[in-house]
Amino acid sequence: MTHSASASPLTARRATALQGTLRIPGDKSISHRAFMFGALAEGETRITGLLEGEDVLNTGKALAAMGTHIRKDGDTWILNGAGNGCLLEARQPLDFGNAGTGARLVMGLTGTYDMQTSFTGDASLSRRPMARVLDPLRLMGVQVGAATGDRLPLTLHGPKTANPILYRVPMPSAQVKSAVLLAGLNTPGITTVIEPVMTRDHTEKMLQGFGADLQVETAASGERTIHLAGQGILRGQTIDVPGDPSSAAFPLVAALLVPDSDITIYNVLMNPTRTGLVTTLMEMGADITLLNERTSGGETVADLRVRGSELKGVTVPPERAPSMIDEYPVLSIAAAFAKGKTVMTGLEELRVKESDRLSAVANGLKANNVLHEEGRDSLVVEGRPDGKGLGGGLVTTHLDHRIAMSFLVMGLAAEKPVSVDDGAIITTSFPQFSTLMQQLGADIS
Ligand code: S3P
Repeated sequence: MTHSASASPLTARRATALQGTLRIPGDKSISHRAFMFGALAEGETRITGLLEGEDVLNTGKALAAMGTHIRKDGDTWILNGAGNGCLLEARQPLDFGNAGTGARLVMGLTGTYDMQTSFTGDASLSRRPMARVLDPLRLMGVQVGAATGDRLPLTLHGPKTANPILYRVPMPSAQVKSAVLLAGLNTPGITTVIEPVMTRDHTEKMLQGFGADLQVETAASGERTIHLAGQGILRGQTIDVPGDPSSAAFPLVAALLVPDSDITIYNVLMNPTRTGLVTTLMEMGADITLLNERTSGGETVADLRVRGSELKGVTVPPERAPSMIDEYPVLSIAAAFAKGKTVMTGLEELRVKESDRLSAVANGLKANNVLHEEGRDSLVVEGRPDGKGLGGGLVTTHLDHRIAMSFLVMGLAAEKPVSVDDGAIITTSFPQFSTLMQQLGADIS
């Protein structure tokens, strides 16, 4: 299946100052998990601020197909969970559309059940590697039926009793870590996950909040060992999802690049595993002020005031990649307007996102006359602070929402307009993107 709307091109034109305030939709990672853990909890889970993008709604549909009651009352989503270990066999294949997080985490969630679950997705998701999740599931006793090289469509069938494993995650991936932990929820004994490099920690924090018996040890090297006792009881929670920093990134970079802009983005998640872009932009000279920093539901949030800035190129340390993995496309746009070179390394995971993002970004930069050099796992961008000569290209998005939004941001600052072949894919993560940007004064249509 493809995303519900058909492809529709969009064009962004050079803007004068962006002004105003905005509230961006809820964090995608936390929204998926709020649905999933609510589905496994006893009693009621109430969620406000949920991201109502296609990715998260597909996860909701999958959970409903396995026995969770989900409804919406005003602004609140209310789940009556099936209970841990109590999901029912879905009658139809679960369709995750474009969403790697939805598909991979639900593979963990249902994989250890003694039942059959089938997974499908759109053309982008069907190209993405699933072995990274299927390999640990196989060690736990899960049978996998996949036609082509551990990619979607595929079917899982769990054993009578799953085997608790100790698993060292071979690549920095919160999705893999989470899938193994979620499989451990329906497994007797202790499931242990070791992550040599810390990735977003929403699964650990939220499972603890739902009452799971989960402990984390952090070694001096930064390596984390996570122990989860399986088959415990989760209890329904009240969750207010903070704004998604990965969506905030687009108006943020747009305001930095359009001279004389001054915007404030409210209620943005500032979990340190997600703030690599803000850190990097500040090193580049960005005028970003964190206002009203506070704690909400165990997470730090802040309002971000962003003003038009003259940026300079920097070298981004590769160890920062996990905390900004989804933000490299839009950082590359900031780099295209910075003085000097921006050097980004350690980007191998970008090749297996919704598109091969390294190549999609490089092609988009090329189409818009930005000097750059693409390596196997690196990108160097030579900036042009006045935007002269930049733009004028049509960018292929390859069913990747972040490629679409990044290049539309470019069009707001480049000399010539920038077009993307498909703006409809943006609804997977940020349905209000064009409307909110227009309210700030952007010309995107
Ligand atoms: C996510 C983890 C990251 C990220 C994705 C969301 C999550 O993927 O790119 O958008 O919610 O766990 P990887 O685990 O593949 O790095």
